[in-house]
Amino acid sequence: MVSYPLSIVLRLIVLVSIFFSDHTFAINNRTTTTHHHHHHRRHDNTTTTIHNNNRLVQQDYIALQAWKRVIYSDPFNFTSNWHGSDVCTYTGIYCAPYQNDTTITLVAGIDLNHGDIAGFLPEELGLLTGLALLHLNSNRFCGILPQTLSNLSLLYELDISNNRFVGPFPHVVLSLPSLHFLDIRFNEFEGPLPPQLFEKPLDAIFVNNNRFTSVIPQNLGSSTASVVVFANNRLGGFELGFLYKLRLLDVGYNRIVGPIPYSLVGLARLETLNLGHNEMSGVVPEGVCVLPNLVNFTFSYNFFCEEEGVCGNLTSKGAVFDDRRNCVPGKPLQRSEKACKAVDQRVDCFDHGCGGKSINGSTFSNANTSHHIP
Ligand SMILES: *[C@@H]1O[C@H](CO)[C@@H](O)[C@H](O)[C@H]1NC(C)=O
Ligand SMILES: *[C@@H]1O[C@H](CO)[C@@H](O)[C@H](O)[C@H]1NC(C)=O
Ligand SMILES: *[C@@H]1O[C@H](CO)[C@@H](O)[C@H](O)[C@H]1NC(C)=O
Ligand SMILES: *[C@@H]1O[C@H](CO)[C@@H](O)[C@H](O)[C@H]1NC(C)=O
Ligand SMILES: *[C@@H]1O[C@H](CO)[C@@H](O)[C@H](O)[C@H]1NC(C)=O
Ligand SMILES: *[C@@H]1O[C@H](CO)[C@@H](O)[C@H](O)[C@H]1NC(C)=O
Ligand SMILES: *[C@@H]1O[C@H](CO)[C@@H](O)[C@H](O)[C@H]1NC(C)=O
Ligand SMILES: *[C@@H]1O[C@H](CO)[C@@H](O)[C@H](O)[C@H]1NC(C)=O
Ligand SMILES: *[C@@H]1O[C@H](CO)[C@@H](O)[C@H](O)[C@H]1NC(C)=O
Repeated sequence: MVSYPLSIVLRLIVLVSIFFSDHTFAINNRTTTTHHHHHHRRHDNTTTTIHNNNRLVQQDYIALQAWKRVIYSDPFNFTSNWHGSDVCTYTGIYCAPYQNDTTITLVAGIDLNHGDIAGFLPEELGLLTGLALLHLNSNRFCGILPQTLSNLSLLYELDISNNRFVGPFPHVVLSLPSLHFLDIRFNEFEGPLPPQLFEKPLDAIFVNNNRFTSVIPQNLGSSTASVVVFANNRLGGFELGFLYKLRLLDVGYNRIVGPIPYSLVGLARLETLNLGHNEMSGVVPEGVCVLPNLVNFTFSYNFFCEEEGVCGNLTSKGAVFDDRRNCVPGKPLQRSEKACKAVDQRVDCFDHGCGGKSINGSTFSNANTSHHIP
């Protein structure tokens, strides 16, 4: 699992700094804060306002108590102190002044990462009006994401990775207006990825290690994300447009067939590209290998039959690369000729050269490297 560069608390501070110009920030001190402000308000404003504010604070309590009721195993006792009205003292709960009314303090972050907690996400989570971060990495939450999460208009980061969520892609995340970071990897979501995912202003998309099928939507190119990981699904193809911000693209361990989309050549900021363990074929184009920031290019375990120019030795360019188990004539550790010939398109590699181009140097048969492969 990739860990995030900043701790939850640092991230909260960053976010809260974005939301509140005065940088007011309160963790685990809600009683004092709210009491102080309510006292203040009673003199200055209407009972209606006070009632509404109390309602949001009360909703946080209702939501967390409802959640606790559907938690069936909590081996590290994350939730054992989840009682009493001061929810800001609960383990894993972080509070901050509410954006729309800084005189009240609401739950702004939840971090139950690595809790090994088993249970469900209740509908009441939609009551956490101030929630900006929800990190549930490495637990045993199961079922589906409740539709009421669409109420969380401030939710900025959602990490439910490494749990047991099932069903189709959780469409509710598409309705979160503030969402910038989505990590749903290592669950059991299935079916197609919705094209709308790539129209959201996300910085990072992790959907790897699920059971997604069909193709990566054509509009992947509309995404603003700098990190997109599709690896370890059952996806059958992809087409990229102009994803100029992309730094990491990982589509390893899918079922992608056909050539490398030429549009990859436009990913000027790309640093890491993993196409490994698919069924791709044709030429590895030099345009990709000369991308200025490329430091790690993995295309092993495919059926490529030509490495154009510098693609044949990216070490000379200072990059890490892995071209094992393809069909490149003259290279070590390639697939057997038989395996390579098994698919129509790949016959070209031996009979007519790759993609109509002639291959410089030895042919696959002369090289006969199949016996190098374990
Ligand atoms: C809570 O805030 C008050 C001042 O508002 C401060 O005196 C007190 O030490 C704080 N308590 C904790 C636990 O941070
Ligand atoms: C009282 O509430 C109104 C809106 O309900 C708001 O415009 C006003 O600024 C508030 N006054 C104070 C002193 O908070
Ligand atoms: C959790 O609480 C139970 C009951 O109080 C205790 O037996 C157990 O050792 C605690 N587990 C941890 C990891 O602290
Ligand atoms: C917060 O305030 C903004 C602008 O005043 C408003 O559009 C939004 O609906 C409010 N959010 C909530 C949850 O009340
Ligand atoms: C959505 O938020 C509003 C305002 O906080 C609240 O009144 C409502 O009950 C919430 N709906 C759900 C389904 O959580
Ligand atoms: C290069 O990328 C591959 C696939 O993403 C990864 O397994 C490998 O560890 C990376 N190598 C380096 C040196 O970062
Ligand atoms: C690749 O390039 C590096 C550095 O230029 C060189 O040391 C290495 O021998 C080359 N490898 C092959 C297989 O040509
Ligand atoms: C083809 O091989 C010749 C001689 O070995 C070499 O001079 C030339 O640069 C090679 N062309 C390409 C495109 O690798
Ligand atoms: C390739 O190598 C294998 C194993 O060493 C051998 O059986 C086969 O005859 C060789 N084929 C050619 C065309 O040299």
